[in-house]
Amino acid sequence: MTRYVLAIDQGTTSTRAIVFDRDASIVAQAQREHRQLLPRAGWVEHDPVEIWAHTRLVVAEAFAQANITRLDVAALGIANQRETTIVWDRRTGEPVHPAIVWQDTRTQPEIDVLADEGGVDRFRHITGLPLATYFSASKLAWILDNVAGARDDAEAGHLAFGTPDTWLAWNLTGGVEGGIHVTDVTNASRTLLMDIQALEWSDEVLEAFRIPRAMLPEIRSSSEVYGVGHTNSLLRDVPLAGILGDQQAAMFGQAAFDPGESKGTYGSGAFLLVNTGDLVIHSDNGLLTTVAYRLGDAPAQYALEGSIAVTGALVQWLRDNLGIIDESGDIETLASSVPDNGGVYIVPAFSGLFAPLWRPDARGTVVGLTQFVTKAHLARAALEATVFQTRDVVAAGEADAGLPLQALNVDGGMAVDNLLMQFMADVLGLDVVRPEVTEATALGAAHAAGLATGYWRDLDELRDHWHEDRRWGPLMPRREAERLYRNWRKAVARSLDWVD
Ligand code: G3P
Repeated sequence: MTRYVLAIDQGTTSTRAIVFDRDASIVAQAQREHRQLLPRAGWVEHDPVEIWAHTRLVVAEAFAQANITRLDVAALGIANQRETTIVWDRRTGEPVHPAIVWQDTRTQPEIDVLADEGGVDRFRHITGLPLATYFSASKLAWILDNVAGARDDAEAGHLAFGTPDTWLAWNLTGGVEGGIHVTDVTNASRTLLMDIQALEWSDEVLEAFRIPRAMLPEIRSSSEVYGVGHTNSLLRDVPLAGILGDQQAAMFGQAAFDPGESKGTYGSGAFLLVNTGDLVIHSDNGLLTTVAYRLGDAPAQYALEGSIAVTGALVQWLRDNLGIIDESGDIETLASSVPDNGGVYIVPAFSGLFAPLWRPDARGTVVGLTQFVTKAHLARAALEATVFQTRDVVAAGEADAGLPLQALNVDGGMAVDNLLMQFMADVLGLDVVRPEVTEATALGAAHAAGLATGYWRDLDELRDHWHEDRRWGPLMPRREAERLYRNWRKAVARSLDWVD
C-alpha cells in the first residue's frame, strides 16, 4: 500500500494541506485563505475557530484530490505562522479573544515600559530576542489584562496559551476530550518566554510579563510522535509527529541542516535564516537568535534570523488598497514593462521596521516621485523593496557571523517571480538558487514527521529531496547595484521617527 506524509502549513494568510510521497513530490494540495481582521490601525487578528475549520476542510480537499484516506497517511506534520497568540478555555475549547497576529503592534506601550526599565535587550541573553511587539509575550499579557476574568481563569489553570501549532495540535488530538497541549522548541523560541539554552520557560521573563506558567504548553522537540488524530476525525490514529515554526520548517525543507547553510522564504514577510549548528550566537547587528530544529533527544540546532515584516504584503497592498493590479501575480508583468524604478523607492514600514533596525517608530514611505512616475514604477519599486531589505539583513548576518554567504536559497510564494530573483542576484552580488519544491515550509513539516516515524531514514535521505530548479547570477554592474542600494538607505532614513 502506498503511504504518504501529510503537512499542514498554517500561515498568516492561508492554511494549506499538502500530501507528499516518498520522493517528497507533491501529490495533492488544498488551500483556504482566512479573514484578516483589522479592527484598528496597528491591530491584526485572526479567528482561531475559522483557522481550525479551514484546516479540516483543506485536509478533506487534499485527501479527495489524491483519492486517499487517513489509512494512506504515515504521519502528519504541522508548520505554522509563528508568534501569533491564541488563548482558549480548556473547558469549552472556545478562544477567549481572537488570535493576536505577529504583525499586531497594539502592545508597543507595554514594550516601551519594559524597555525603559531595563533596555530593549534585557532578555536577549535568555531568549535570543529583543523586546518587541512581534513576539508572543506582550500579546499574551495583553489578553490577560484586557479580557474580563482571563487572569483569574489562567491562574486557576482553566486557560491554555498556544501559537497556531499548539491550537491545531490540541484540536486535532481531541480538544476538550483530552487534546494534548504541546509546542515545539522552534515555536517556543519565538514567544520571548523560553530560555533558549535550557529549552524551558524562563521564570524571570514570565514574571516580568506576569504570565502564569499553568497556561503554557509543554515544550517538545520538532520531530517526535506527540499524539494521534482523534477518534472522530478524518485523521483518526494518524501520528502527529512533526512541529516547526514555518520559517524553521522552510529551512528544514530546504535541507539546510548544517552550520553555514541558509535560506530565504518570501511570503507576506521574508525571513532569512543561517544555521549556526549547536552554537547560540547572540547578534550585535539586529538579528534574532532562534532554535532551528531539534530532532527527538538530539541537541538543539540554532540559527540567526533576519526577519523582514513586509515583502509580499506590499504587493497585496498595491492590489487591495491602491488597486493597481488585479492579482498579486500581475506584479511581475507590470514591473517588467519599465526598465527601472524611475527613481522611486518604497520603504514598506507598515508596522515599523523589523531586522536589522527594529524601529517601531518607522512608517511606510514613498520617495522620489516625479510626474514621470507611473504605476509600473511603483510596482517595480515594491519588488525592489524586498531585495533591498534582504541586502540589509544579509549585511547584518555577515557582520555577526563573519561568514559571507556563498549563495541564497530561496522559496515561498514570491520566489516564482523571475524579475525579483534576478534583481536579488544583482543587488546581493550572489547567486540566488530556487529548488524544485518551493513549498519548502510544508516539506519541512513533512520531513520532521516522516523522520520521527521512520518513513524517511535520516537527514541524508532528506537531502536527496533537494533539487535545483533555477539559478540566477549577478548581471548588473556592481557600481549600479551599489548606487541603487545607497538610494535605498537614504529612503530608509526618511522613514524613521514618524511616530512620536
Ligand atoms: O514570524 C512570522 C512568520 O512565521 C510568518 O510567516 O509565511 O505565515 O507569513 P508567513
